[in-house]
Amino acid sequence: MNGYTSTQDDLNDDNHLKEQNGSTPFSGDVPSSPTGTFSTFSMTSTVNDRIFREDGGRRFQAQNDDYSLPNDEQELERLECQHRAFKAVQANRNYLAPVHDNLKDGSRALDIGCGTGVWTIEMAEEFPKVEWIGIDLAPVQRDIGLPDNLHFEQNDITQGLPFPDESFDLVHARLLVMGIRDWKATLDELLRILKHGGMVCMIECDFPWGLPGVPEDQWKERAPGHCIFSDYLKMAVEKRGYDHKAASRTIAALMRASGKVKDVDQIESCLPLWGWSDDPDLRRSGETMRADAEEIPNSVKIVIQDACEIPEEVYEEIKNGYLADLGKPGAHTAVPIVHNYGWKY
Ligand SMILES: C[S@@+](CC[C@H](N)C(=O)[O-])C[C@H]1O[C@@H](n2cnc3c(N)ncnc32)[C@H](O)[C@@H]1O
Repeated sequence: MNGYTSTQDDLNDDNHLKEQNGSTPFSGDVPSSPTGTFSTFSMTSTVNDRIFREDGGRRFQAQNDDYSLPNDEQELERLECQHRAFKAVQANRNYLAPVHDNLKDGSRALDIGCGTGVWTIEMAEEFPKVEWIGIDLAPVQRDIGLPDNLHFEQNDITQGLPFPDESFDLVHARLLVMGIRDWKATLDELLRILKHGGMVCMIECDFPWGLPGVPEDQWKERAPGHCIFSDYLKMAVEKRGYDHKAASRTIAALMRASGKVKDVDQIESCLPLWGWSDDPDLRRSGETMRADAEEIPNSVKIVIQDACEIPEEVYEEIKNGYLADLGKPGAHTAVPIVHNYGWKY
C-alpha cells in the first residue's frame, strides 16, 4: 500500500480499514493506543520499493532474509495489539524486569527490533530524561508526535550496530525469535555496547505454545487444533534455523556462560490467546490478544507452508482448527513468554 498514511482515527474506523485493505484485518475492533501517541504508518512509494518485497499478498522487509514475519499495515496493527496485550498482562506496565533502576536521568537506552515503535515511544514518555533509540530492520513508520528524547534508526543487529562500546545503560529486545539464528553473536553485540552496570533485557517466546497451568497430557484433548497448529509452527521455526527454546533456556544460559553478566534472572509470563482466565490481568490481556491471535495464522502462513511443505487447503484446515479453539471452554491457550535479564559486570 504505497504512500498510505493512516491516523488513529482511521485505524478505529472499520470501514476505512476495509476500504484500504479489501478486507478487515482483524475480526474485532482495533482498540486505541493507551498513550494516544499512535500516529502514522507512512511510506513513500520509492522508499517502499527499495526496502520491501511482496510475497503471497503480504509485504516483507527486504534487508535481511533471516526475519520471517511480514511488515505491512496488517502486521503492524497486529504488533500494536500484541503490545497492548503485553501491557495488560503486566498490570498496565511496560516492563516486568526492574529496568527503571537503569533509567536514571541522563542515561541512554536502546530498543532492538522495535517494530512499530510503540513500546519505545511509551518508555520515552515515561522516562523523559533518558535518551532513547529504537532500531529495526525496517524504518519505523511513525513520524508524528514523537517525544524529543527518542529517535529511530534503521539497523540490523546481525550486522553489528553503529554504536561505540559501552554506550548504553539499558538494552532491550522483545520478540526477535523469528529473526535471530545466532543468539550468542546477538548477545555479544548487545554486551559490547552496554556500559558496565548496564542492563540487558530480552523477552522472547518458546515453541510449541501450550496451555499454561494445564497438565501437558491434557493439552491435545482440550485444544487439539491449537496443538496441531503450534506443532507445525515449532517445526517451521526449527526448519528455519531458529531456536525454539531461546526464551526459557538459551538466552539465560548464554548470559551466564558469557561471564560478563551478573545476577541473571528470568520472569515467566504468557500472552493468553483469548480471555479464558479468572485473573483480571490475564483475562484483560487475553481479551485484547484475541484479535492478534486470529491474525497469527496469516502472519506465519508463508513460513509454515514453505518450511513444512503444506498445500494451501491443508494449511486452511490447520488454521481453522486453531481458530476453533479460541473461545472454547477449557482451551486455555497462550504464548509462553520469558523475560531474561541481567547486568553487565
Ligand atoms: C515480532 S516484531 C516485535 C516488535 C517489538 N519488539 C514489539 O515487541 O512490539 C520483531 C521486530 O524485530 C525486527 N527485527 C528482526 N530481526 C532484526 C534484526 N536482525 N535487526 C533489527 N531488527 C530486527 C523486525 O523487523 C520486527 O519489527
